[in-house]
Amino acid sequence: MSYNKELHDKIENIDLNSEAPIEEPQRQYYYIKKAKSYITALSQKLGRPLTHKVVNFGCQMNARDAEKLEGILEEIGYVKGEDEDSDFVIFNTCTVRENANTKVYGRLGRLKPLKKKNSNMMIGLCGCMMQEENVVEKLRQSYSYVDLIFGTHNVYKLAELIVNRLESKSSVIDIWEDTNNIVEDLPSERKYSFKSGVNIMFGCNNFCSYCIVPYVRGRERSRKSKDIIKEIQALVADGVVEVMLLGQNVNSYGKNLEEPMSFAQLLQEIEKIDGLKRIRFMTSHPKDLSDELIAVMKNSKKICKHLHLPVQAGSNQILKKMNRKYTKEGYLELVSKLKAAIPDLSLTTDIIVGFPEETEEDFEETMDIVKKVRYDSAFTFIYSKRTGTPAAALPDQVSQDVVKNRFDRLLKEVQKISAEVTKIHEGKVMEVLVEDVNQQDPTLMTGRLSNNLLVHFKGNQDLIGELINVKLTECKGFYYAGEIV
Ligand code: SAH
Ligand code: SF4
Ligand code: F3S
Repeated sequence: MSYNKELHDKIENIDLNSEAPIEEPQRQYYYIKKAKSYITALSQKLGRPLTHKVVNFGCQMNARDAEKLEGILEEIGYVKGEDEDSDFVIFNTCTVRENANTKVYGRLGRLKPLKKKNSNMMIGLCGCMMQEENVVEKLRQSYSYVDLIFGTHNVYKLAELIVNRLESKSSVIDIWEDTNNIVEDLPSERKYSFKSGVNIMFGCNNFCSYCIVPYVRGRERSRKSKDIIKEIQALVADGVVEVMLLGQNVNSYGKNLEEPMSFAQLLQEIEKIDGLKRIRFMTSHPKDLSDELIAVMKNSKKICKHLHLPVQAGSNQILKKMNRKYTKEGYLELVSKLKAAIPDLSLTTDIIVGFPEETEEDFEETMDIVKKVRYDSAFTFIYSKRTGTPAAALPDQVSQDVVKNRFDRLLKEVQKISAEVTKIHEGKVMEVLVEDVNQQDPTLMTGRLSNNLLVHFKGNQDLIGELINVKLTECKGFYYAGEIV
């Protein structure tokens, strides 16, 4: 889907008779070509293509990393497989909450008999869980059939690790604690032809007290704006009309660059790219959302009318313990400013219920902020204790019954408001980007509004990737039924 001829030629031109280059990305071009020679030989011997399956867990950052893994695997000569009985299976893991983490062990267990049947099968594990020492120790001891283990900082090295595995005949484990490296110009396989995630920064420096991300993704580092622009230009030339700029806290983009640049300035540069129609970004930390950004969003023709602005909690005491660096009042003021500047802006959020020492009064403050802001939608999470984070050491963890009760009350409120807020567009004609054939009914197509809501309408597949006007005939709760006008 994102076959890049120039990159492919660079890889083809590498001389495998010389030593592997030291500098990146040339070193990886060398290993991609080398891995390809092994995979091609094996495939000829077996008389069939070798398949890969990348299983992704977690957030948009991980989804983008998964595309990079797939890009490398396809360049090496693997073809996309359907299931976990493929020849190369890799789990790109998430550890933000305990349940994300436990899921992986269950699925990994089910790969063992498959590997017994297929002696050419390779199993890889990467992503955020692998940055935790206890996880890697457990894998070493109880899951010795895993071939490759690497972390979040060296995804780009997949080809080199595969070559190491094939040449050494034993498992390869390569985990880095942190990195300053940002390696550009490697293959990547896009899930959609018309939209793409684009990393603008990696890591996080905020250390919210409940969160493991800064420990597993390392310190914050921004990509140079010229690399970001170059990537988006290439994507647009390849048919992309919408980009999602990705970072744990996009509002602090550019602070550590040699030539510092604000996120608002970056957005203005991206806006100038001809052929690009829509710009989205996530995630915005409220503490760093500037007036400059609000003004740029207001005046932009391309930035979508949607802002994901995680609040986490409504009580000032809890916000303080969470190390979020804003107050309930500060957050509400920010929301007023945003709504005044951009009246049709859709606001969404993340909320944690049951943070240690959360009282009924604290929880009421969360309910109150939800009622005041009236989010278009909200992701609600039960607090999950992450070993090594400051919050894990707090004494008073809230009992499960209490948390469950609060969670249910919150969810009910969030859904009630969301249905009311969603309904206000009924009858309007709005532009959608047509994304897919509807899963349940193949005569329907699914499109996404600028404000991120989905609309289902009669249409055909040729429309995928097009921006068209649709009348929102009926609100169905969290989405719309519509018709092309
Ligand atoms: N960088 C983003 C969020 C990354 S994690 C931001 O700051 O908004 C996505 C969401 O997972 C967070 O917003 C938070 O609501 C939730 N989360 C993170 N750690 C959690 C934990 N220990 N328990 C429950 N939810 C958590
Ligand atoms: Fe986690 Fe906070 Fe960083 Fe988001 S900003 S990734 S919640 S530490
Ligand atoms: Fe999970 Fe890592 Fe994202 S822990 S939420 S995949 S940054």
